[in-house]
Amino acid sequence: MTINKAQTGKLILVFTIVATTLNCKKTIDNSGSGSTTTTDKTYNTLWIPPVLTGTTFNLTLGSSTKQLRTGNVTATYGYNGNSFWGPTLIMNKGDNVQINVTNSLADQTTVHWHGFHIPAIMDGGPHQIISAGATWSPNFQVKNNAATFWYHPHLHLKTQEQLTKGAGGFIIVKDPMESALALPRTYGTDDIPLVLTSRRYNTDNSFDLTTTYGDYMLTNGTANAEISLPKQFVRFRILNAEVERAYNLGFSDNRTFYVISNDGGLLNAPVPVTRVKLAVGERVEILVNLGSDAVGSNLDMKAFNTGQIFGFPGAEPASSGNFGSLLNNIDFSLLHINVVAPTENPITALPAALANNVYWTNADVTNSRTITITGGQAGSAFTFDNNTYGFTTINQNIKLNSVEKWTIVNNNIFGHSFHIHDVQFKIISRSSGSVAAYESGWKDVVYIPLGESVSVIAKYDDFSSGVNPYMYHCHFSNHEDGGLMGQFLVE
Ligand code: C2O
Ligand code: CU
Repeated sequence: MTINKAQTGKLILVFTIVATTLNCKKTIDNSGSGSTTTTDKTYNTLWIPPVLTGTTFNLTLGSSTKQLRTGNVTATYGYNGNSFWGPTLIMNKGDNVQINVTNSLADQTTVHWHGFHIPAIMDGGPHQIISAGATWSPNFQVKNNAATFWYHPHLHLKTQEQLTKGAGGFIIVKDPMESALALPRTYGTDDIPLVLTSRRYNTDNSFDLTTTYGDYMLTNGTANAEISLPKQFVRFRILNAEVERAYNLGFSDNRTFYVISNDGGLLNAPVPVTRVKLAVGERVEILVNLGSDAVGSNLDMKAFNTGQIFGFPGAEPASSGNFGSLLNNIDFSLLHINVVAPTENPITALPAALANNVYWTNADVTNSRTITITGGQAGSAFTFDNNTYGFTTINQNIKLNSVEKWTIVNNNIFGHSFHIHDVQFKIISRSSGSVAAYESGWKDVVYIPLGESVSVIAKYDDFSSGVNPYMYHCHFSNHEDGGLMGQFLVE
């Protein structure tokens, strides 16, 4: 790691990552069910995005290429010269930040600050278009709590294509409360960002830009990713940045791990789990204890996607075609972990308590509304309340400072991943039963299985506008591009 003084005078941490390809034979468990198969497998070192810090952030989206498989390189997008994805922006709660986003593509784009509570005109939704060659410079105060957020294109009709090519990046917000806790937070060492995606390749190794499911896993844009991690508590900040696929996360030995944060911040206390479902757009921060693992041993973080009920994205049995893939309805590795010696000041214990969140309840609600997922029959696009997305249509009008309960009704064909801009909400109920403890914190995306209605409560405060809307939508980018998106004004 080198520390450079940038032209602007601010310090930029430049992490120099040596992307080594390891060509070694290993014995791995491919089955996920206990029986061991011996296989030759080539792992590649997990790419860790470089970091930008300070209060002025410069991002440039451009075309690139990446060697992802044997043969041709793959045409990709990345920010700041990265061949896939972009730098991790580290921000402090309370800071006033300015971001200069330059578009060096030949196409339009936008950049949305997913999960941020900011004015609609700074939000980077479909309306804040950045023309080819132009620079957009939003500024805002960081009001969110410490958590893992992300930025990504939100250009209507092109979101799937631009995301698939690799445009996106993490934002890590820090605040004094999180910083006071004894948690792993050495970026790239015991605090690891993981963006989960999969891709399908055309015969020339270009990405299939229209498919629902990829056939090959890319973790941080790395195929067959592995990492060396110290023998102690390690934190992962995991983002599902897929088109549709959900992940039923766990470890190859079924060990217990601990959810410490949801989309918008820390839970009140760690929640022990052996599996977590992570739908598109959702983030989860977990702690896993490698303290009892032998140095030199290994394990895998895996998707246990076998046997999910219909409507779970990626449970479809076909291995090809638009709704099939080689990764559907199987268990597969997301990250191969080699356990190495502990660091100097390792985290060796789990904090008992994390935060003192007081969540919204039904008693706080000042207005309720219901949004129903419709359409989708016989190849037609999904819609909300029978309306497809309209660029100039306002679908919901919300009074500033109201506490609203939204019930999303999904009795229609498939599961979806529902996202609301501007707010962090509390999942208050699921019609199928209870809300899992691991999703009991502040959320901006909620998975809605087929046949469920889910209610969420949020306060719409601070920012109002009679002209600039916020979005709500399914975070499956193909559904969003297809019209499963609506707009609301807060005034
Ligand atoms: Cu992650 Cu409307 O977006
Ligand atoms: Cu959807």
